Amino acid sequence: MKRQWWQEKVAYQIYPKSFYDSNGDGIGDLQGIIQKLDYLKELGVDILWLCPIFNSPQADQGYDISDYYNIHPDFGNMTDMEELIAEAKKRDMYILMDLVVNHCSDEHEWFQKAIADPDGEYGQYFYIEEVSDGKIPSNWRSYFGGSVWEKLPGHDNKYYMHLFHKKQPDLNWENPKVRSEVQRIVNWWLEKGLGGFRVDAITNIKKALPYKDYPADRADGLCVIQKMLVDAGGPGAFLHELKEKTFKPYHAFTVGEAFDVPEQEMPNFVGDDGYFSTIFNFSTVAIGKSGKGWYDRQAVQPEQYIQALFDAQEGMNKIGFVANIVENHDEPRGASHYLPKGECTEKGKKLLGLLSFMIRGIPFIYQGQEIGMENTTFESLAEIDDIVTYDEYEVARQAGLSEAEALRAVSHYSRDNTRTPMHWEDTENAGFTSGKPWLKVNPNYPRINVSQQRADQNSVFHFYKALIALRKSPEYKETIVFGDFVPNRQVPKDVMAFYRVSDQQKLLVLANFKSAAETIDLPQKLIKVLLNNDPEQSIEEQNGKIHLSGYQAVVLEVDRN
Ligand code: GLC
Ligand code: CA
Repeated sequence: MKRQWWQEKVAYQIYPKSFYDSNGDGIGDLQGIIQKLDYLKELGVDILWLCPIFNSPQADQGYDISDYYNIHPDFGNMTDMEELIAEAKKRDMYILMDLVVNHCSDEHEWFQKAIADPDGEYGQYFYIEEVSDGKIPSNWRSYFGGSVWEKLPGHDNKYYMHLFHKKQPDLNWENPKVRSEVQRIVNWWLEKGLGGFRVDAITNIKKALPYKDYPADRADGLCVIQKMLVDAGGPGAFLHELKEKTFKPYHAFTVGEAFDVPEQEMPNFVGDDGYFSTIFNFSTVAIGKSGKGWYDRQAVQPEQYIQALFDAQEGMNKIGFVANIVENHDEPRGASHYLPKGECTEKGKKLLGLLSFMIRGIPFIYQGQEIGMENTTFESLAEIDDIVTYDEYEVARQAGLSEAEALRAVSHYSRDNTRTPMHWEDTENAGFTSGKPWLKVNPNYPRINVSQQRADQNSVFHFYKALIALRKSPEYKETIVFGDFVPNRQVPKDVMAFYRVSDQQKLLVLANFKSAAETIDLPQKLIKVLLNNDPEQSIEEQNGKIHLSGYQAVVLEVDRN
């Protein structure tokens, strides 16, 4: 495997709107990020991915871009952006932007021109179909609910396709002009000194054509979009071209949001000459979800979580790196979601962090994860902004849930759980803003915030610092970054155990994913305890065994033989 500049880095996802507000308007901004760069440096992260900050009507929090060459005024302006890139560079940090090019906004000038003249040049930028008999071209259900087909404004017999919200018309990647516009955007930003991109929803750019219906899977007569995507055969050719003409010449770091990549395609996506540097591993995200909707969720079992991580690692040793997450801006807080009820403790949070750092790949921390932020509670729909939550609420209501039950059911998965403002201090609005925050602050901020976490040497924050320091330490870097991942299945149920092995070293990672203590056979002699999430229980070898307390997780150096 080729060595690349980014492989030993640690990445951090910023949700700019909720990170830090520098001017009291209740909305986080670029100057706010600049002011917190030293905090991020102290934590030890290198690569900062910013969720979209481009001009946008904000129908989907900026994932609907109306101008790829300008910054939305809520966040600042181009000078602020250039300052951020420069200030990051001074600290050996890299900025990633969010490349949202499966779709743009319906307010983008391309779409406005397409409306004005659907048969002209810009009509070809989108998927627009004429309908003579009133029947829409296909029965695909949008990710955000309802049909993917929407009437083109002002044209009664024409429809356009949107796999997400109707304010997010899909760009037609079959059209070479669209592809070259995308290349121009990417290179324009890379010229500004960006480190690279997180690439949004990218496996959706290839559609199965000609259109056809698939068997309906709900009472709405529509079918889940994945049926079409499997048929479409993958975006490989488009992505190869994009990489060759943009990312590759700039040595950019790219992380794809690519769901359901078939195993045999992995080398094409993340191999030495892959379309992307890496793609997110979402194997854990899928656990417990149901085709019926959010309301039909099953609690995540530890053995499922462990198995999902093993599955994602399988075969990757010789191929490339996956990007490992605990949570992101589309998912619940990992601590609230993956730890059993009543077990959302500092110890459990550290266990999740330890696993995401010690499996092979590049770790991503989502803002607030490093201080142990949790899901919030929503008292009413009015407290929620996320459009997906509204759709899922309707789905739950139609399935027969009462208003209160539906609210409770969708609250768990609401994307706003991770979008609430970052907790900096134990002061009003968690020190996020001096104004009125755009989204409600999680009421637990007096207990969980950066200043409290910094002051406590045993905190989640200090544990993340230690994880990052260990990954970067000259002594263990080679093994943790590049070493093989070898599962160890000779352990009791609900314990995750694996080795990381290089020519120099063998590390054993153990995580007891339950409240009961466990005794583990140590097949090799213990050399050194590198990390331990339980300040109250030190690790000692006794007759070839060690004891782990409930939710204890450790990194051990063991004898190579
Ligand atoms: C991705 C983003 C999500 C957004 C969607 C549409 O899944 O992570 O937040 O809503 O794409 O752009
Ligand atoms: Ca602001």
